[in-house]
Amino acid sequence: LSVGQKRLFRNLKLVKSDYSGHQAKMAFIVEDGHLIWMGSQSKIPKGLKPKDEFDLKGQLVMPSFIECHTHTVFAGSRADEFEMRNQGKSYLEIATSGGGILSTMKKTRSASVKQLLEKTQPLVDGFLAQGVSTLEIKSGYALDLKNEIKLLETIQKLKGPQIISTFLGAHALPPEFKTHSEYLTYLGTKVLPVIRKKKLSNRVDIYIETKFFESGPAQAFLKQAQTLGFQITIHANQLSMSGGAELALELGAQSADHVIHLNEKTIQRYGKSKTVAVLLPAADLYMKCAYPPARQLIDAGATVALATDFNPGTSPTQDLSLVGFLARLEMKMTLAEVFQAYTSGAAKALGIEQSQGDLALGKEANFICTDAELSDFFYSIGNMPRHTLFIRGLAVKI
Ligand code: NIG
Ligand code: FE
Repeated sequence: LSVGQKRLFRNLKLVKSDYSGHQAKMAFIVEDGHLIWMGSQSKIPKGLKPKDEFDLKGQLVMPSFIECHTHTVFAGSRADEFEMRNQGKSYLEIATSGGGILSTMKKTRSASVKQLLEKTQPLVDGFLAQGVSTLEIKSGYALDLKNEIKLLETIQKLKGPQIISTFLGAHALPPEFKTHSEYLTYLGTKVLPVIRKKKLSNRVDIYIETKFFESGPAQAFLKQAQTLGFQITIHANQLSMSGGAELALELGAQSADHVIHLNEKTIQRYGKSKTVAVLLPAADLYMKCAYPPARQLIDAGATVALATDFNPGTSPTQDLSLVGFLARLEMKMTLAEVFQAYTSGAAKALGIEQSQGDLALGKEANFICTDAELSDFFYSIGNMPRHTLFIRGLAVKI
């Protein structure tokens, strides 16, 4: 809704913030895309009541989803590597023999913004269709100044959900550099300042893992990013105890993502930290990894988020229902915890919890409404119950 416009939504069943049930016959008023009043529909203040009314016909209303970790912009496919992995080659073997991230890099470098947009926009639409109002997309498949900027500019041109971009130049070592340290120095001195100046992103990510970036040199790079004003996030402890999860805590990162290999001490530290543990079980399924210790993290008091990690290598799926299903089936998360992880948890992971992630006064009116029940979600793989998505109070046509 544009500036000054007000709209009343009435006759809705509003999901409680702990997802334990709902309150019937509720209403809210949206102005400039934000919730300015919420309550029982019998108590709408006369002075506030706008002419524009929207009857939600007793449907269930809940916060829309926030997908906080994806690599949606890339060229080509890695379907051939999926076959190789199934026939016995490991992800690291493929990666160190020129495949993996570097094979996507070659195709992505030679693609134009137009070509990338044509490929990426339908993928973004695919998230929108599942009720995603806010989508994070990382760069990281170009690995040089010119082409990483091309990716971030492509991300800025995408339409539909609200999009948050993250610079993941430190995704793998490109062929122009001999060592990871040299490449990080290049990124820190030549690339980060340009991204900052062009306002292409305010988030920096790095892949800390054996055969990729080590936590020592990563620390200096991430500190540089923080000094320049970037928020930071880390791909951490996916394949090994790489130290990334601990570094994220030390630096006060917004999130640490994957976090499969954690010791008890680190789990307890997450319980006391603001750093969100972003769990990516679809990638774990494809990689035949262990699943992250979600139950222990939540019981320790940590905030967790869930996301698809959509990318052509380790998680070629955009399916939120699969992610939530795996969290329930394999990670002992309750249905309520899955909803929270995909809304308020994800908002914290992206540092947007002041304005998004739940339906509360002053926050954005980003929600879905449905005839289904809460228990219909994250139950049937590949099926998101029918729903309508509203972003800032406006129905999204899909
Ligand atoms: O999140 N781990 C690094 N990045 C991706 C994989 C990228 C790729 O294989 O293309 C991930 O799993
Ligand atoms: Fe990832």
